[in-house]
Amino acid sequence: MLPVKQTLNKAEVKRLDKVSAPDNSSDVTKHLPDDIPVALRDTPSVAPTTVDRSMLRAGLITLGAIAIAAGVLVAVQFQRSQQTQSDNTAIPEGIVSRIAANSAQSPASASPTPAPTASVNTDAMLGHFRYAEASQGVLGSIAADGSIKLRKAAAKAYQEMQSAAQQEGVSLVPLSGFRTLTEQDYLFFGKKAERGQVAAERAKVSAPPGYSEHHTGYALDIGDGAVPATNLSPDFENTPAFKWLKANAPFHSFELSFPKNNKQGVSYEPWHWRFVGDRASLETFYKARGKK
Ligand code: DAL
Ligand code: ZN
Repeated sequence: MLPVKQTLNKAEVKRLDKVSAPDNSSDVTKHLPDDIPVALRDTPSVAPTTVDRSMLRAGLITLGAIAIAAGVLVAVQFQRSQQTQSDNTAIPEGIVSRIAANSAQSPASASPTPAPTASVNTDAMLGHFRYAEASQGVLGSIAADGSIKLRKAAAKAYQEMQSAAQQEGVSLVPLSGFRTLTEQDYLFFGKKAERGQVAAERAKVSAPPGYSEHHTGYALDIGDGAVPATNLSPDFENTPAFKWLKANAPFHSFELSFPKNNKQGVSYEPWHWRFVGDRASLETFYKARGKK
């Protein structure tokens, strides 16, 4: 804000009084305080009277008061705009929710200790993320006998993909889709006991109950109808079905969940695919999870 001068002292007024030639105005204004409006810089042809001087003083005082008020207004506006810039409303929705999710998961983020670059999902266990079990009402069947189900959007996309593969002579066979917590409980704890595995070892091939993508209704295991011996085996990657899926699954919004050397540390599962073709499925697998 420019400095505000409310009055002229006598010397300044005197100097103002002395100047008379209009063609010297640039020299005159050079010596005048900047806050005197141009109108007041016009030099009177006669010496101002006492009344003129008091009017000039009153005018300057009024102008000074207006300038102070304007300055205060500008300062208040500036402060408000600074506050708005630090508001979350200026940040895209996705980033806000990710920040909110991360800070909710990590109370330590409020401390002065710098946060790690990659967000940590405290809901992960033994390399698997926590998932809610889909309710029966949202599921649709993908097998003729109704024994294998996926969420309706995923079921539709899978059936279209299966037809497309069939038209090219490739037989995709669903082996497992949605699973309940009880079913996953057996696959993790039951099999673990049968095979004498420790939890970390079992978790490399099977998610603990509550942590399987199969609970979501978006994931399924696929076999090759022409080579059933490769079902649920790493050898599945050599089948026509896998080769077809690798080239075509993204066109149907399916992706491999556990590729070779995945960051979760889960064994390579060429047969396990998940649907990521709508907002709900994408959020289920990627939101607030960090890089994977
Ligand atoms: N086989 C995968 C990891 C599961 O059990 O969900
Ligand atoms: Zn699976």
